[in-house]
Amino acid sequence: MTDLSHGKTYPPSPEWQARAWVNPQTSQEMYDASVADPELFWDEHGQRIDWFKPYTRVKNTSFAPGAVSIRWYEDGVTNAAYNCIDRHLETRGDQVAIIWEGDDPSESKHITYQELHDEVCRFANVLRNRNVSKGDRVTIYMPMIPEAAYAMLACARLGAVHSVVFGGFSPDSLAGRIEDCGSRVVITADEGLRGGRKVALKANVDAAIDRLPPGVDVDHVIVVRRTGANVAMDPLRDVWYDAAREMVTAECPCAHVDAEHPLFILYTSGSTGKPKGVLHTTAGYLVYTSITHKYVFDYHDGDIYWCTADVGWVTGHSYILYGPLTNGATTLMFEGVPNYPDMSRFWQVIDKHKVNTFYTAPTALRSLMQAGDAPVKATSRASLRLLGSVGEPINPEAWEWYHRVVGDNRCPIVDTWWQTETGGVLISPLPGATTLKPGSATLPLFGVRPELVDADGKVLEGAAEGNLVIADSWPGQMRTVYGDHQRFMDTYFATYPGKYFSGDGCRRDADGYYWITGRVDDVINVSGHRMGTAEVESALVAHASVSEAAVVGYPHDIKGQGIYAYVTLMSGVEPTETLRKELVGWVRQEIGPIATPDLIQFAPNLPKTRSGKIMRRILRKIAEDDFGALGDTSTLSDPAVVDELVNNRQNKR
Ligand code: WT7
Repeated sequence: MTDLSHGKTYPPSPEWQARAWVNPQTSQEMYDASVADPELFWDEHGQRIDWFKPYTRVKNTSFAPGAVSIRWYEDGVTNAAYNCIDRHLETRGDQVAIIWEGDDPSESKHITYQELHDEVCRFANVLRNRNVSKGDRVTIYMPMIPEAAYAMLACARLGAVHSVVFGGFSPDSLAGRIEDCGSRVVITADEGLRGGRKVALKANVDAAIDRLPPGVDVDHVIVVRRTGANVAMDPLRDVWYDAAREMVTAECPCAHVDAEHPLFILYTSGSTGKPKGVLHTTAGYLVYTSITHKYVFDYHDGDIYWCTADVGWVTGHSYILYGPLTNGATTLMFEGVPNYPDMSRFWQVIDKHKVNTFYTAPTALRSLMQAGDAPVKATSRASLRLLGSVGEPINPEAWEWYHRVVGDNRCPIVDTWWQTETGGVLISPLPGATTLKPGSATLPLFGVRPELVDADGKVLEGAAEGNLVIADSWPGQMRTVYGDHQRFMDTYFATYPGKYFSGDGCRRDADGYYWITGRVDDVINVSGHRMGTAEVESALVAHASVSEAAVVGYPHDIKGQGIYAYVTLMSGVEPTETLRKELVGWVRQEIGPIATPDLIQFAPNLPKTRSGKIMRRILRKIAEDDFGALGDTSTLSDPAVVDELVNNRQNKR
């Protein structure tokens, strides 16, 4: 079996072993204990959070076919905002909770735990005044400004359920998400600001609400002033947050909620259908994000921790806000992008705020790598101790560059594998304990039982390659698909009955290390963002000139995977360059810029079986430039279609 890291390994340094919460021996002992007696282990760690009423039952979970049910600490009563803020006030009131770094390097802000408390209470009161209460859904469509964090925590304080929609999504995508969860309140900003460019958030909200079907109503839109742009305000529906904030106090009680009370919904793409509303609940999620934040990032009091994600993704939920704040950490929130004003921005921010732990995505590293070492070397980065990676497999070349150039050969890298559905990291090195292999997420975290299975569900032992499943529940796991428990069971527990199926392929080497090989379903990973090929296809066929579309991923140097679309036009429509551009713009408008097709091939015919099913395997191979491996084409209704497709393959950019 090929070792993609060329056999190079990086054992934890003696300094790291001495400093870290766990070393090679203690981490092994802790892992063994966690899987030998999960009840005992998770009871002990249930104490990571404060309870209004303690639980008596730790774990009540079943992956049984047709009866999947996941409940942790179920009879306990708590509150997420209380755990992230109030309980820290006595000891950490004056400690910085959030360092905010604006898009413009001259703008930054330090928010203490006391200030965070006051702002979250004010936001909660503004929501309360608009009838938001326990269980209500609130959609948040915001730039990366402190008010996004205040809004999320304000929902948690009231026991309302937030649904954050990434600011890069289109009005249509936003409308679908508002409708699916029935939010009657939307929180947004006049405009967002990224890389010096403005994003018309409020205008998008207006367009989304216009598109809602009759009977679906948004009663209130709360608008935070960010750029000061002149935006349309509906006097009956819209309110400026700054004005509403003036009317309320900085005190608001925390709702007492059950451990399994919903905390948030986050929509994510799957292989079929519309995006699913992944539902996470309160106590297990907090316990899991806090324990993983502590051990994976080896968080100690006083550390400055920075995760570059957007709060519109799960990484922002779990590792900018909930995990770090539960731990009383100082967490940095960045509004901007890696290449603005210049390619040194990340490293300048690290120097400016003396960041110790830096967590980002391989796609960002690959694009920065292209600019060479100079923009990195122009900065000190002396404060850095630990680096992290998330979102997609990190290729060994990017890993080595991150380690050597960014980390000056002294910072371990934690390559963290997880998903929106898992709530927190499941497979990752621990910096004081794990010998690193570039490109491998290494070993399971405490309480996590990964297995590899073959297509028939047979469990593979030892060194093997197969599909990655998890054999038992962990507290951070999603509980259901909002409003559709059957879909939850069908998507994750039906392929391999009794097991959670991740959708990822994976290899395990002779040392038991896990190497994620990527999705095995019709989901592609573009710049660390998950995209359902079916969603892009349905956007394309919604265009008047398109009769049929098939979308696959292909290897892309920067993005990891690019979007390759085969498009059959309506008869009589000419395949022109202008139309190609129009279709690219169309998909951006329908879904959002993250779904921009990289390549569109006009295909008069698509390869189909005699029963009319598109053979995506062949399309994938053509997009990958792997013509030698097209496999069996004899079941095609017209094998000549394949030659036609190969001859017209679009070139990579
Ligand atoms: C998919 C989940 C939760 C992180 C943000 C993405 C891929 C994620 C890694 C990694 C290899 C990774 C998987 C997974 N992925 N982290 N360290 N190594 N692949 O969350 O949007 O739910 O996507 O991202 O394919 O299934 P997501």
